[in-house]
Amino acid sequence: MGSASFSSAADLQSTLLAGEPNGPSIKTAIPGPKAKAVADNLGEVFDTRALNMLADYRKSHGNYIVDPDGNTLLDVYAQIASIPVGYNNPALLAAAKSDDMLQALINRPALGNFPSVEWATILRTGILKAAPPGLNQVFTALAGSDANETAYKAAFMWRRQKERGGPSVEFTEAEMDTCMTNAGPGAPNLSILSFKSAFHGRLFGSLSTTRSKPIHKLDIPAFDWPRATFPELKYPLEEHAEENAKAEADSLAEVEDLILNFHAPPAAVVVEPIQSEGGDNHASPAFFRGLREITRKHGVLFIVDEVQTGVGATGKFWAHEHWDLPFPPDMVTFSKKAQTAGYYFSDPELRPNKPYRQFNTWMGDPARAIIARAIIEYIENNDLVAQTARVGDYLYGKFETLAAKYPGQFANLRGKGQGTFIAFDNPKRDEFLLKAKTFGVNIGGSGANAVRLRPMLIFQEKHADILIEALENTVKAL
Ligand SMILES: Cc1ncc(COP(=O)(O)O)c(C=O)c1O
Repeated sequence: MGSASFSSAADLQSTLLAGEPNGPSIKTAIPGPKAKAVADNLGEVFDTRALNMLADYRKSHGNYIVDPDGNTLLDVYAQIASIPVGYNNPALLAAAKSDDMLQALINRPALGNFPSVEWATILRTGILKAAPPGLNQVFTALAGSDANETAYKAAFMWRRQKERGGPSVEFTEAEMDTCMTNAGPGAPNLSILSFKSAFHGRLFGSLSTTRSKPIHKLDIPAFDWPRATFPELKYPLEEHAEENAKAEADSLAEVEDLILNFHAPPAAVVVEPIQSEGGDNHASPAFFRGLREITRKHGVLFIVDEVQTGVGATGKFWAHEHWDLPFPPDMVTFSKKAQTAGYYFSDPELRPNKPYRQFNTWMGDPARAIIARAIIEYIENNDLVAQTARVGDYLYGKFETLAAKYPGQFANLRGKGQGTFIAFDNPKRDEFLLKAKTFGVNIGGSGANAVRLRPMLIFQEKHADILIEALENTVKAL
């Protein structure tokens, strides 16, 4: 396993883009006849109503995704922001073929009970090597929602343990009884505070903190937990500095009020560095420093959900590194481009006082952790976070030009200085996304009107040029 060392910048470029086509090529309507036949067949055994496009992953390389009809698209959606270093990346192929991987796949351990002799090394040389500053422990999980839910559970147990008087204080009989009947005296009356338009996942607990779209939540019983207003910034930022600062101050005041007065006190505040599914909503570093300060002041944990923003796309490995926090977050959750999931923390008291309190069968997956290690190594060896910052600045500049040329079509352009994590609003967003495919670009939306860019970390200036030309053609054709 491991990536090659490179003797020159040219070697690096060619290796990064090994097997990539020179550009998009569109041969049929999308879906074309072959894709339609595959979809019909699939539809008999699997729900295809959310189908975006069918892919032939064997033929997809680097930044390009290929469909069954041979249409080749520049992919800046990347499996909902989840492909870090390109399709069929040679370093990941090598990791997949390694002996470690074979072992992990055919002898999958129940990690809490039977971890392998290699597990500590896999963590230390992989997931933990990329730990956010100040955090040195990890709890591994299966998906973003699972990462958040387990972080919430850790927060509740931490809080009750403190209230009880420490890790050595035993549970009362009343606590043991009420937890089995789900109610009664001594039942924990606690919550997780999240924000309007937030997305933290769709499992039962995480869903109660998700506030982006009703379709995610309809018919599912939810906890009565507090929801604070996320500041709605106006663009361009320079022209609305005063209003935006007020929106952020109001939001922080609301958070503090909810912490102090909500009938079920929050054990934690959870926030995305950029609200992603909710429409790519940004806030300033000062806002997030304010959140850190308020949570710390009131003994409430600060959970940063980096499931979508983490692993390089914002031009820092973790988006919260843009904030210059005086104290690290208490927990940082991750998944998507890490290709594995979990939460980082450092306070040993966030490990519950007894075994089996935070536990499940798999507790993560060594096979995915091995891929995560290969990804992290590849990113480091090729300096892809710095590349993403550089390409992002280049791309943002191109979008500024487009926005000036086509007023209203690239509205509320956001993500300046945030790598390639760029978005804008378009009045005909859904049509825009479909039309972009006809010009060879696979691009996603979020929230009501946003077009969001989620290129991989191997996206370079030449891909940015292709993207900009295709999106200009898209707008002209709308
Ligand atoms: C910020 C954030 N948190 C959590 C999740 C949930 O992750 P998963 O779909 O892997 O459960 C997502 C998914 O889009 C997300 O964007």
